[in-house]
Amino acid sequence: MYLELTDGENERVNSYREAISRLMSAERYQHSLAVEEQAYMLAQVHGGDITKSVTAALLHDVAKEMEPEKQLALIGKHNVSFAESEKKEEKLWHAGAGAVYVQRCLGIKDKEIVGAILHHTSGCANMNLTEKIVFVADKISKGRDFETVGEERKRAENSLEDVIFKYVKNMVSSLTERNMHISQKTLETYNCYRDSTKMQKISIAS
Ligand SMILES: [Fe+2]
Ligand SMILES: [Fe+2]
Repeated sequence: MYLELTDGENERVNSYREAISRLMSAERYQHSLAVEEQAYMLAQVHGGDITKSVTAALLHDVAKEMEPEKQLALIGKHNVSFAESEKKEEKLWHAGAGAVYVQRCLGIKDKEIVGAILHHTSGCANMNLTEKIVFVADKISKGRDFETVGEERKRAENSLEDVIFKYVKNMVSSLTERNMHISQKTLETYNCYRDSTKMQKISIAS
């Protein structure tokens, strides 16, 4: 229960928890709760919208365990902005399918919540605060155990943009090292946060 939310909002978040627990494995459910908790902390630190952040975080992987064909079919059934190039990358499908699922099956119309689910895998340029919170929360939540996760959790308290840029930069290097395709959206995210973190450093230094 979140003190910042009304009883009705808390009740709604609880009903989403119950709904997703039936749609995924226990492990993925624990991950969803961990991302929700991390998003709550980040929303508090950065002055984000608590309801939108925890809702999108909780639901971000709602379509992850659907059959890939079902994910793609869902994307085709609704008006989410999903480029043809993204349709070639299976790992991005659950984000688009999740964005459709929450609108069609849970009646969520809020554009920030839908956008945060849609962009949580590859990011996108100029993400709003809720989208940034959910993107980062997914990467640094409890259960993530890469070597520098502790550093990234601290970094996220100061700058979500720095964490986004570092994550996407690592993703781009890892893909290029393996001669793999880099999606347009990943490149746009890289360029956008490369520029914004550079601008932040210039203004701090001056
Ligand atoms: Fe995901
Ligand atoms: Fe996730």
